[in-house]
Amino acid sequence: MYAILKTIHSYWAFLVLIILVLAVLNAIRGKASGKEFGAKDLRISLFGLIFSHIQLLIGLILYFVSPRFDQWSTLGMGVMKNAESRLYLVEHPITNILAIVLITMGWSLHKRQTISSKKFLRIALFYGLGLVFLLSRIPWDAWI
Ligand code: HEM
Repeated sequence: MYAILKTIHSYWAFLVLIILVLAVLNAIRGKASGKEFGAKDLRISLFGLIFSHIQLLIGLILYFVSPRFDQWSTLGMGVMKNAESRLYLVEHPITNILAIVLITMGWSLHKRQTISSKKFLRIALFYGLGLVFLLSRIPWDAWI
């Protein structure tokens, strides 16, 4: 169960990052060109939302089945003194949950707007910030 989830979480991360980069670039281009927010723009933003939510779900289950979770009982708050444990058990989950909250806010705020340039701006800003959060706390050494 753990090994399968870890592998899925690891590969799904590629998809999430690629789609979010595409969604942000698409929103910046849409805003800059002043074009109408169309079906393709809606679809790419929606895929970014759905893919990141699926990753959140996989990550949450992985958190509790990972052997790393046992460090809470063996080390207690000592988890915070070890850079690797802190990254996996505290920084990566919290930052990524915040990132997905930002992405969800971007999606909701863009839906409330009727003007295309405002829709693009909401997606570019919130998805962009979410992406920066995600990139800042990925365990790069273990991943690539
Ligand atoms: C879009 C959001 C996320 C992305 C892109 C992401 C990406 C990654 C990547 C690339 C790894 C390294 C995988 C490997 O070693 O091959 C990882 C590990 C991990 N992630 Fe995430 N993650 C996300 C969200 C979350 C969330 C929300 C949680 C928990 C609440 C979480 C929990 C974990 C855990 C526990 C590991 C370490 C698994 C282990 O080595 O035992 N992730 N994540």
